[in-house]
Amino acid sequence: MKPAPDAVEIAPGTHWIGALDPGLREFDIILKTANGTTYNSYCVRGSSGVAVIDTVKASHAGEFFARLEQVARYDEISTIVLNHLEPDHSGALPELMRRAPQAKLYISTKAQLMLKALVKDTELDYTVVQTGDTVDLGERTLHFFSTPFLHWPDTQCTLVEEQGILFSGDVFGCHFCDARLFNDQVGDFRFSFEYYYQHIMRPFREHVLEALELLEPLALKLIAPAHGPILRDVPQSYVQRYRQLASPLLANEVGADNKSLLVFYISSYGNTARMAQAVAEGAETVSGVRVSLYDLQAMGDLPFVDLIEEADGIAFGSPTINGDAVKPVWDLLSSLVAIKVRDKLGAAFGSYGWSGEAINMIEDRLRGLKLRVPIKGVRARLIPTDEELGKCHDLGKQLAQHLTGTIDRRVISMSELLAQEPSHA
Ligand code: FEO
Repeated sequence: MKPAPDAVEIAPGTHWIGALDPGLREFDIILKTANGTTYNSYCVRGSSGVAVIDTVKASHAGEFFARLEQVARYDEISTIVLNHLEPDHSGALPELMRRAPQAKLYISTKAQLMLKALVKDTELDYTVVQTGDTVDLGERTLHFFSTPFLHWPDTQCTLVEEQGILFSGDVFGCHFCDARLFNDQVGDFRFSFEYYYQHIMRPFREHVLEALELLEPLALKLIAPAHGPILRDVPQSYVQRYRQLASPLLANEVGADNKSLLVFYISSYGNTARMAQAVAEGAETVSGVRVSLYDLQAMGDLPFVDLIEEADGIAFGSPTINGDAVKPVWDLLSSLVAIKVRDKLGAAFGSYGWSGEAINMIEDRLRGLKLRVPIKGVRARLIPTDEELGKCHDLGKQLAQHLTGTIDRRVISMSELLAQEPSHA
């Protein structure tokens, strides 16, 4: 591995002044980092001001200040931009502001709460910016783009207009540490770019698409993310890749006017399987719904997570074993944190021997994931009767009707309501 470089000029007057963390193997507990990460920050020099874009994790502040001092004096710094306030980018901010007290801090509207939590009792002056706001550094203009939820509420991107440099924060970044810094010089980091998108950006797909509407029209010459390689070779290809990753895959198969309902089940003796079949058949009686039936015993989670991301409704069938739903069901449910499932419709059903807790447990988990569970689940002790299979059929049909907006709404008359009023005699 090449030794850590000094400050590196990435474009005339603009330097990388970040820090390398090659020993990191796990980021934020959930992300594996095969060869560490970088905390990228940048210094932009204009004819009338110097800006620092993002800082680094507090543990790496020494490296950051050493590189900053190679390219600017503290009393020259007029502007500090924090594109994102998670501690890996804001850790050195309090100390930077102490060393450059004249600098104005620019953050997004939603970053204000986080800034207060970060600096606690210290009063900091700051200016809130949003899309279209600019800061003039003299022949270098910083132009802000509000890109919230990529991947925190506060995230924004900053463009140097004259040079086409986009400081993109976590967007287009990845955890990959290579002192050669630039995408045309570092090792093959494609796996890391994809992994980072899947784990960090994917749950916010709608926000990715909104951000792309802002960023795609820009004539970018270089993307400078907050982690991983600096993208100077064909930077637009990374924007295009985000577009591909965020675009629905199944729209053609399901049809724009159709709703997609997925019925998952797992079955020890075929009882829950029969219930699943009945749920699917009931749903198929409703036109405009494409129903798919899957046995969870046959596959891992991954293809199903992709399908669920684009489905409108999901039903889970599980037996109850030892007072619980079975592991493949929980495994799939726990995988759904990687995608947006809020407001999809959910349902549960299953066969049981003694107690049948699985159905309520699955329904609770679905609600916890912010799905809507409009119909009470169906339980059947051991072998489902024809009546219980009929309830499963109704469950599927009603779920499909909810999806298509054709559910019969029961109209309660005033006389019915009055009849239900308790007597005050
Ligand atoms: Fe790299 Fe969301 O912090």
